[in-house]
Amino acid sequence: MKKAGPKREILISGVSQGLGKAIAEVFIKKDSHVTGISRSREKSLDWLACYKKELSYYPCDLKNPTQLQTLLKTLDKNKSNPDLIILNAGYAVEDVCDGINAGLVEEQFAVNLFSGLRIIEQYLPGMLKRGKGTIAVISSLAVFRENHAGRMGYSASKQALARILDNFRLQYEGRGVHFVTIFPGRMGKKNAYGMGISYESAAERICRALLSDPPPKTLSYPFLQTILTKLLHHCPSGIFRRFFYR
Ligand SMILES: NC(=O)c1ccc[n+]([C@@H]2O[C@H](COP(=O)([O-])OP(=O)(O)OC[C@H]3O[C@@H](n4cnc5c(N)ncnc54)[C@H](OP(=O)(O)O)[C@@H]3O)[C@@H](O)[C@H]2O)c1
Repeated sequence: MKKAGPKREILISGVSQGLGKAIAEVFIKKDSHVTGISRSREKSLDWLACYKKELSYYPCDLKNPTQLQTLLKTLDKNKSNPDLIILNAGYAVEDVCDGINAGLVEEQFAVNLFSGLRIIEQYLPGMLKRGKGTIAVISSLAVFRENHAGRMGYSASKQALARILDNFRLQYEGRGVHFVTIFPGRMGKKNAYGMGISYESAAERICRALLSDPPPKTLSYPFLQTILTKLLHHCPSGIFRRFFYR
């Protein structure tokens, strides 16, 4: 009888709902074990009960440095050793209105960027030593053009995240570790946004891309929104502000 091979180990941040949950479920169906992180307490996530063996859940507020440090120590103690890391936790708030709320910008950077860097700091040396592994980040099409009035920190933090991955790629090209930057457009529970896509379809695409050998360096979707947003990046700000900014 053929012996079952070891399960793929995946770490996903922001696993409690939305895209992170959908990605976890797709990978679990493909015989992976997921280590999932987000703020919600375990008790409030009924669906975790369906995956007692396949998913180890760790509640942590990623913008709290003490909680993040404790989480990383616990993961280390539990011998967590992911083959694939998906840095998905992220959020946006209105942080500008007759001035800027720098504290809100800092908090978005803490979750959207710096928590991910701490996770990479913990696992990248091991991946480089083994000469294999993949680190994927969920950025946003908003990095090409922010179209939400009142938001500043979100697209800035997602842009920084994408740039950091570019730099990792330059630094470690050829060492067997892959860095994948994902630029999603609008996503939601259902395909209700015209140009947007459902979390489930997005998760399928991401999973397919991350399992290809080698994985792509970047992935953007949906197609139409990608083209429009990249074109609008070159649109003069006066025109963009008048017709598209809302
Ligand atoms: N939805 C879109 O249209 C869209 C478009 C482009 C990019 N994105 C990006 O795609 C990713 C997923 O989006 P989504 O729509 O699935 O968002 P979502 O439904 O709001 O889920 C975000 C996830 O991040 C976790 N999270 C947020 N703050 C956290 C914190 N301080 N500590 C730990 N976990 C935290 C949340 O968990 P808890 O609430 O349990 O903490 C949740 O699991 C995000 O990075 C988002 O910026 C989304």
